[in-house]
Amino acid sequence: MFVRRFTRSELAAHWVVAVSVLAMIATGLALGVNIAHDAVFPVHVGSVVVLAAGLLTVALAGNRRALRATARELRSLDGDDRRWLAWAPRAALRRGGDPPPIGRFNAGQKANAILVSLFLLTVTGSGLYLWAKVHGLVANSNLVGAAHNLSAIAIIALVSGHLYMAVLNPGTRRALGGIVTGRVDARWAAEHHPAWRPDEPPDGVSRP
Ligand code: HEM
Ligand code: HEM
Repeated sequence: MFVRRFTRSELAAHWVVAVSVLAMIATGLALGVNIAHDAVFPVHVGSVVVLAAGLLTVALAGNRRALRATARELRSLDGDDRRWLAWAPRAALRRGGDPPPIGRFNAGQKANAILVSLFLLTVTGSGLYLWAKVHGLVANSNLVGAAHNLSAIAIIALVSGHLYMAVLNPGTRRALGGIVTGRVDARWAAEHHPAWRPDEPPDGVSRP
């Protein structure tokens, strides 16, 4: 039996973010080692336009209540989440005992989403400044350059962890079907997210 995990709007938002951020990373690395600068530069800066336009389109045309509810869920870290964050390193050393209750997203997923969002803001702010600098509109700033590079490194590390969980890690990679079709196996959901009640959305948003 399958249960609905993501609405079509949530799937669309996820893949807009995934495609544009992966493009930013690939073109950023090419700029860093100076491969085909003139061809790569417009794609690098253009990917933030694709990200913004894509998210705006999904928000205007899609299920805004479901998007808002999921964004709220991802940024809310409660007491169980803090206990989960203390439990996870012990569990990795096989000394964890039972995990605290896990709802629709575990605290690692929430922390990852919060950090990626924050670093996307700093990489975009510093990137816009660098773009203005390249066009001679503002002065050079080593501080902004360093902020761009450090934010980029943080995003690459976080996205690499996310991709490892989604594609390689045997314990978690079965979630991949969910972010493609929107539906997951009910037994998988009960095992990995035991405190999540797919049939009782906390926000009253049905996910048909
Ligand atoms: C995941 C997001 C991003 C990553 C990983 C990333 C990475 C990088 C890297 C590695 C460089 C080369 C730095 C160097 O040569 O020292 C760079 C340069 C640059 N990035 Fe980004 N970046 C990202 C997002 C953005 C965004 C959103 C913008 C625009 C709003 C932007 C604008 C620029 C500009 C203007 C340059 C300078 C290119 C030049 O000097 O020729 N970046 N980025
Ligand atoms: C590159 C930028 C990406 C970002 C910023 C991103 C971000 C997110 C966020 C915030 C979530 C919801 C919370 C979570 O489950 O972690 C999510 C879910 C998910 N993402 Fe991504 N994602 C990206 C790329 C990808 C890619 C390329 C894949 C697969 C190849 C992927 C696979 C998944 C899966 C399987 C889920 C659902 C997890 C679950 O149901 O528990 N993501 N992503």
